[in-house]
Amino acid sequence: MSVLSGKRILLGVCGSIAAFKAVALASQLNQAGAEVTTILTKDAARFVTPLSFTSVTQQPAYIDLFTPDPGRILHIALAEKADLLAVIPATAHTLARLAQGLSDDLLTCTYLSTRAPVLVAPAMDGGMYSNAATQASLATLRDSGAHVVEPLEGRAASGLVAKGRMPEVDALIAEIRAVLGKNGSLSGKIVVVTAGGTQEPLDPVRYIGNRSSGKMGFALAEAARDCGARVVLIKAATTAPPPLGMTSVPVTTAADMQAAVNEHTAQADALIMAGAVADYRPETARDQKTKRTGDPLAIRLVENEDILAQVPRTLVKVGFAAETEDVLKNAEKKLTSKGADLIFANDVSHPESGFGADTNRVVVLSKDHSPEPLPLMAKSEVAAVILERVAALVQERSHA
Ligand code: PMT
Repeated sequence: MSVLSGKRILLGVCGSIAAFKAVALASQLNQAGAEVTTILTKDAARFVTPLSFTSVTQQPAYIDLFTPDPGRILHIALAEKADLLAVIPATAHTLARLAQGLSDDLLTCTYLSTRAPVLVAPAMDGGMYSNAATQASLATLRDSGAHVVEPLEGRAASGLVAKGRMPEVDALIAEIRAVLGKNGSLSGKIVVVTAGGTQEPLDPVRYIGNRSSGKMGFALAEAARDCGARVVLIKAATTAPPPLGMTSVPVTTAADMQAAVNEHTAQADALIMAGAVADYRPETARDQKTKRTGDPLAIRLVENEDILAQVPRTLVKVGFAAETEDVLKNAEKKLTSKGADLIFANDVSHPESGFGADTNRVVVLSKDHSPEPLPLMAKSEVAAVILERVAALVQERSHA
């Protein structure tokens, strides 16, 4: 289950042209299983209407502090049941009101009343954003524990190019997920995840690669982030859209990946290797593009080191086994030879569990238990199961 599933999100919307993105955001949060109730400032309602939000969330959207709500005081009832108050977009005026504790409308009264985490996503022209008054408001809000989404450099509706542009919906959802997961099962832990396929150069234009899209690794990195972990994503070649809200380290070859894994696991609690690593590389990469000669061409390959095997056992080590035959037998060998705590075996000859698929079917292997086949699931669901197991091992290890 996603960290958004069943969460009650109060979406505060302010009077900015970026308010149109809040409608798409509300819709996506609703589709991900969150219950989204919207509070519009009166100026937000000049740009978008309560009806827009009720239509996409099937929940009420309020403007007026004094909306009759029989048996309850509206802002207190909203504040008490929220898992998160997200003010998106947040204007300079509302940021100042929140920072100063003014309580002159439904949004500000609810902010003062709630004990839920608060996220604000500023959206305004660069001059307003960089103004000392706005920065002071943001500093006050940060000090009081609010999570501030960093605006982007870019073109504002006015045509001015500066920092103040609100990030797109996917990035906002990543930030919301990270805030909701902050006190999760991996809170305060560091998890390193590898994703994608390494590329071993033959010459300046060609390489030996594989079919990894990065989807499995990205789903794992997102699931770790949603459990509250600080995630380092070591990303080889991929085709899927990369996840947000984590440190991303790009690599090309298996040797690059090994160096990055060694550097970032020094402080980590767990390593999950979902990346597809070349076991062999060309002994030499030519300096210039290889030309056709009319004769067969032999390429001598030499073995790459086993990255997972050489990582110390002090951290939780998790690998995959990408097999096309004797899946269990080969995966069992990898569990031992790589000194892994867990190996997830997938039969990559199946279209539903292989490279590029949105789903996976894995068998869980560990030292102390017999192999456990899991049903076919979306890669995001497989990732959530894997992270549960990883979190349990990390907890065990930290109490040992
Ligand atoms: O990226 P997708 O399109 O979503 O596809 C997902 C996947 C099929 C790539 C993924 O589920 C998967 O199986 N990843 C592991 C791919 C792989 O390299 O498997 P392997 O059986 O060759 O290696 C076993 C384990 O050792 C892996 O965790 C691998 O990362 C690691 N390894 C391999 C070689 C090497 N030199 N060093 C390693 O550490």
